[in-house]
Amino acid sequence: MLLIKALHIIFMVTWFAGLFYLPRLFVYHAASTDAISLARFSLMEKRLFILMTLGGLVTTLFGVWLIVAEPGLLRQGWMHAKLLLVALLIGYHAWCWRLHRALAEGTSQRSAGWFRVFNEAPTIALVGIVLLAVLRPF
Ligand code: HEM
Repeated sequence: MLLIKALHIIFMVTWFAGLFYLPRLFVYHAASTDAISLARFSLMEKRLFILMTLGGLVTTLFGVWLIVAEPGLLRQGWMHAKLLLVALLIGYHAWCWRLHRALAEGTSQRSAGWFRVFNEAPTIALVGIVLLAVLRPF
């Protein structure tokens, strides 16, 4: 099970690499005006979204595996709080897809400054989830 936990953490890092970098690409995309940059950012975002979705799916797969191996974890408060934060993170992930589509189609009204703020959310989720998983405060 330690190997499964290690794989869970490794794929979590790949997922977060995307969750940190994709909104950063949105910042640059929203600040661009020329056709070549717009097309390039759209393509980079699409590829990164596919990779980070795989990272998220495999992280979740190993997380569920760990729960199946130790179902008692589902009776612990920290795990409820962690799963709530993970659910919010999955919502954020899905929101990223919608924002990418709007930018790619040229219908986005969001400013680069808005995307900078949007970019902070995964950091908060990461700190919260890791503190819950490691410290298990309740
Ligand atoms: C649906 C998604 C997820 C599920 C079902 C899940 C579930 C689990 C389970 C059951 C464990 C093992 C607990 C134990 O027995 O020690 C674990 C460990 C861990 N998880 Fe997740 N997890 C998920 C997503 C995440 C995410 C998104 C992060 C990071 C942001 C994360 C970070 C960690 C860490 C750092 C550990 C190791 C804790 C330790 O043993 O010290 N997990 N997870």
